[in-house]
Amino acid sequence: MKLPFAESYKIKMVEPIYRSTREEREKWMKDAKYNLFKLSSDQVFIDLLTDSGTGAMSDRQWSEMMLGDESYAGASSFHKMKGMIKKIFGFDYFLPTHQGRAAENVLFSTLVKEGDIVPGNSHFDTTKGHIEFRKATAVDCTVDEAFDSDVVKPFKGGIDVVKLEKVLKETPKEKIPFVVVTITNNNAGGQPVSMDNIKEVRKLADKYGVKLLFDSARFAENAYFIKTRDEKYKDWTIKEIVLEMYKYADYATMSSKKDAVVNMGGFIGFKDEETYRKACMFNIMYEGYVTYGGLSGRDMNALAQGLDENTEFHSLETRIKQVEYLGEKLKEFGVPIQQPVGGHAIFIDAKKMLPNVPKEEFVAQTLGVELYLEAGIRGVEIGALLADRDPNTRENRYPKAEFLRLAIPRRTYTNNHMDVIAVAVKNIYDRRESIKSGYKITWEAPIMRHFTIEMDKA
Ligand code: F0G
Repeated sequence: MKLPFAESYKIKMVEPIYRSTREEREKWMKDAKYNLFKLSSDQVFIDLLTDSGTGAMSDRQWSEMMLGDESYAGASSFHKMKGMIKKIFGFDYFLPTHQGRAAENVLFSTLVKEGDIVPGNSHFDTTKGHIEFRKATAVDCTVDEAFDSDVVKPFKGGIDVVKLEKVLKETPKEKIPFVVVTITNNNAGGQPVSMDNIKEVRKLADKYGVKLLFDSARFAENAYFIKTRDEKYKDWTIKEIVLEMYKYADYATMSSKKDAVVNMGGFIGFKDEETYRKACMFNIMYEGYVTYGGLSGRDMNALAQGLDENTEFHSLETRIKQVEYLGEKLKEFGVPIQQPVGGHAIFIDAKKMLPNVPKEEFVAQTLGVELYLEAGIRGVEIGALLADRDPNTRENRYPKAEFLRLAIPRRTYTNNHMDVIAVAVKNIYDRRESIKSGYKITWEAPIMRHFTIEMDKA
């Protein structure tokens, strides 16, 4: 008999979690104004709000923390991180930042100006926020099938080159600071971008004389999918695939809280020295001196170690198989989810799940609240709240698809937790016809409202 799959680690430290009652959760949810971000973590049994900074570091990462060099300038920890970034991605220049959006802030301060156009695939909300804050425009060129949860294709996260070429043709190149390739495509369900697509986008960028930025939060998961779904790369190591991917990038921003499995950290990678030099000034103003940029020496050490470990096949396989395990259970129960299952999360198609809730009452948010009340599980809305209002008309933007994202932290929960999640979702699915109303906004911030929004029953 073939031996079944098992995790490539054992556990040596645990953190207790509390399983609350439905009555407690109803009170807590009301007090939190039906915004899952406003719950305290001890009110949550299984926390799937994000896979960002919530993973369990390895013993080797923890031991690297003890070796951190906390010198203000030129710390050995900086050199460790620099060496690892060169080895993994091939970047000669880099700046540490405290997380991904900080990398965006520094790089976009350097390159993005009012009136610019930034095409890309499903810009993450902070990425879009940093573009729109500078009075520039993010143009979404994601392939259409990304948002059709029934279309099963190996690489659904990429850029539609026809859409991209149209933007590049119509816009003077001085107005395009770069094209963003989000790897993997978070908002479309952690769907990967194929190597072929990366190469096609590079070709177009060269044809029109523009630069390419890889938003690299989940680059290693993307490389895993290239290895396992593209025949041409099946014999390549993850590290070889990553180096090949980044041959086509000019810049990278990375939230290292994902695929480097650290609780905090990020960086910017540059191929050219000139942009790096310009960005140094903003890094010093916003983050810290160029050799620590908002990170402690120990954080840089753990980050470097995490990059090395998490670009190994067995580590990615363990992670992605757990996400697949939950996906398979949900599919067995008939729950409508984005397929194929992506790298970091399950995306439940909220409109299909709750057909009787009007879009004006925020379908995905309604599902998120239901799931919390059902079992103390916290997901996150990827729908109309996240889409914000149109900056010009101030009307609500209703995206084609509304998802409830269940992000799976790396190495944090067991498959027993996955079983609880699957049954909780099934219970809601079974009574879906009876859920007819959602929530209305009682207060919202002018930008990135979903984090702090306050709501009431509609
Ligand atoms: N880019 C992508 C693709 C992301 O998913 C994130 C964060 C960022 C940039 C910003 O990085 O949080 O370190 O400042 N995503 C988290 C999530 C928050 O839950 O998906 P950050």
